[in-house]
Amino acid sequence: MLPFQYYAPTKVVFGPEREKETGRLVREFGGKKVLIHYGGGSVIRSGLLERVKASLDAEGIAYWELAGVVPNPRLSLVYEGIELCRKEGVDFILAVGGGSVIDSAKAIGYGTANEGDVWDFFEGKRKADACTPLGVVLTLAAAGSEMSSSCVITKEEGGLKRGYGSDLGRPRFAVLNPQLTATLPDYQTACGCTDICMHTMERYFTNSGTMEITDRIAEGLLCTVMENALILAKDPQNADARAEVMWAGSLSHNGLTGCGSDGGDWMPHKLEHELSGMFDVAHGAGLAALWGSWARYVYLDCLPRFKRFALRVMHVDCEGTDEEIALRGIEAVEQFFGKIGMPISIPELGITPTGEELSELARKCALGVGGSKGAAKRLYEADMLRIYQAAMGK
Ligand code: NZQ
Ligand code: ZN
Repeated sequence: MLPFQYYAPTKVVFGPEREKETGRLVREFGGKKVLIHYGGGSVIRSGLLERVKASLDAEGIAYWELAGVVPNPRLSLVYEGIELCRKEGVDFILAVGGGSVIDSAKAIGYGTANEGDVWDFFEGKRKADACTPLGVVLTLAAAGSEMSSSCVITKEEGGLKRGYGSDLGRPRFAVLNPQLTATLPDYQTACGCTDICMHTMERYFTNSGTMEITDRIAEGLLCTVMENALILAKDPQNADARAEVMWAGSLSHNGLTGCGSDGGDWMPHKLEHELSGMFDVAHGAGLAALWGSWARYVYLDCLPRFKRFALRVMHVDCEGTDEEIALRGIEAVEQFFGKIGMPISIPELGITPTGEELSELARKCALGVGGSKGAAKRLYEADMLRIYQAAMGK
């Protein structure tokens, strides 16, 4: 076990129709002039936006709207949001949507509250001193951004997808009504379940620092998400499964499943961010497409953890050597992805990067992590390229 700090300040308001309390929550956290930020229209079609606006009206809170956030949210819209917030004197940002909307809202918050170019933070040039407070009405259980410290934005020029993390950007509140996710396409539900699993698995596969309580929380979370993802693949309207997955999504990325460890591996995420930055694929699907190739590349360097995971999460047959058991666990994860309609190779994402593009992905990934990264196994550019190449082949 390593010493740790756990900070999860977001007030969670969970259950049916809780979005009606949004106005009250904004007021509770001091918002008087609000930017409502959302995506491409699902919140209009579902009627959610109207309900949220009605709750702000009921509290007499003024608001402006900025729509148009796309998956893998873009820097240009962030700049637009910053300009709007400054012009109107916005003091609170309300993200109504999934991870992309929340991340865009966080970036607008950083850009509004600090001088200079907000992209500096994503390039690691400097740190933010403040962030405009924000709240969330979540429509997709996936990224965990509703409680996380991180924020991932894509700069269109060069297809650069980069993250920035700070406790300043953690939302003040998150309204979690699982029923709001019932309108999701099946593919997005599956992408979300994959991403949720991955946030805990990234923390789980490490060689330094583990803690039994954290491991058991992680294993319980993973079993719960996988079981309920399979239920939703057959019965998308299952309300209990929607609720299990939504709460798991927040817990998976608010730090809980990393307490006492060194923070985890995170290379599958880094590899995926390059892929979705360059090819605009859904983040969860990109993770599924890469994970097996990453796991087979690193598992011998983290064998006890892969064995434990195989036995306690994937419940594989315990006969054979540690290596055989670990490999069975990796195969079982890929079978799970198959059952929920997720890809297990890059071509299954519907893209076929050239050899040169794979090299560019590896180059950018290595640059983005400062040369090398990984807690299961430290990876360098050449390793990253081999993993991308392996993910082309299945
Ligand atoms: O734009 P609309 O019309 O709302 O459609 C969205 C979007 O097309 C749709 N959608 C969302 N809720 C819906 C719905 N459609 C019907 N009914 C609903 N209830 O779903 C599509 C995908 O939305 P998006 O927000 O992009 O998905 P997700 O929540 O998976 O977020 C992905 C982004 O989060 C980043 C990813 O890299 C990616 O950019 N991540 C952020 C993290 C963080 N901040 O902590 C951590 C993650 O690892 C991840 O990197
Ligand atoms: Zn993720």
